[in-house]
Amino acid sequence: MATDKTALNLPKENPEAEDFLPILGTDYIELYVGNAKQAAYYYMSAWGFQPLAYSGLETGLKDRASYVLKQDKIRLVLTSPLKSGGDINRHIEAHGDGVKVIALWVDDARKSYSETVSRGAVSYMEPKVIKDVEGEVVLSGIQTYGETVHTFVERKNYKGAFMPGYRRWDPFYKAPDVGLKYIDHIVGNVGWNEMNKWCKFYAHVMGFAQLVSFDDKDISTEYTALMSKVMSNGNGRIKFPINEPASGRKKSQIEEFINFYNGSGVQHIALATDNIIETVGSLKARGVEFLTIPPSYYENVLDRVGKIDEDLAPLSELGILIDRDDEGYLLQIFTKPILDRPTMFIEIIQRKGAKSFGKGNFKALFEAIEREQESRGTL
Ligand SMILES: [Fe+2]
Repeated sequence: MATDKTALNLPKENPEAEDFLPILGTDYIELYVGNAKQAAYYYMSAWGFQPLAYSGLETGLKDRASYVLKQDKIRLVLTSPLKSGGDINRHIEAHGDGVKVIALWVDDARKSYSETVSRGAVSYMEPKVIKDVEGEVVLSGIQTYGETVHTFVERKNYKGAFMPGYRRWDPFYKAPDVGLKYIDHIVGNVGWNEMNKWCKFYAHVMGFAQLVSFDDKDISTEYTALMSKVMSNGNGRIKFPINEPASGRKKSQIEEFINFYNGSGVQHIALATDNIIETVGSLKARGVEFLTIPPSYYENVLDRVGKIDEDLAPLSELGILIDRDDEGYLLQIFTKPILDRPTMFIEIIQRKGAKSFGKGNFKALFEAIEREQESRGTL
């Protein structure tokens, strides 16, 4: 994994973004979960992730176990506590299983820390160097919305599987991958009137620029509403939409999230594929449940989005949504919540030129979510 790549060599996509925090991409997402061993089996079997690394009692840790999974550029870390008490247990008690760390792959973890903390970020982890025989990684971290944190990972001097402290994990069981390629965007839900505060945080503290915004006129149904702004770094590899609830006749899906998560947190992770029909077909065959869209959606969708390369039949069979912007089109689909609490879900997205987020699908999508909320008695 050692690399000479530097974020400063990547083309700039967002002219308004600043360059004081060069980021190469998402390094990993770490979830705190009740049972990491079984969660790892779920993400391998259902989602096609491959085993990569492990740390726990066998590697000298006394209080936790972590499983690292990989699919192309996507890395997930699943961590469970081994003893009662402590921060991980408290996090799970408060939020259920959920995302604790959105780790960013940087050229310089010390500079990432000093640049952000000097601009007002609250420290999560002062820069530290961790080493083993395969090299060294520099880590640091800052707090973001809710109890979520960003770590900065500098791994240019490391060639091991994941990072010092972990050993390669190569169990006999492996499931075929499903064609997931990279993390397209990670969405945060924040509380009432907090969207602008967190967008300012990403702009001022991290140098991001705002890509687009949606207000409650864009994103509302008869019942529920939300507002959203998308923040992105200079090279566009990091895209963080931030949602807040808006008032509607009934309870918004964002409020439902905030209630069950006990505060702000990661609502969904969008994973990119080059062939959404195959990817979603495999996921469904392995039991992943997606929101269902009424057949009427497909009756006039091509009038709205124009000509697309794919046949409509498999898209409508799988419930894949289509939207177009000035630069092209995109195909997307959303799972039901993947946890017992109606909190986090996963989006699968295939971009065919479009750089947007599926605004044209919001209405159909939110009506589908409302049908689910109705069944949970939380609308
Ligand atoms: Fe999304």
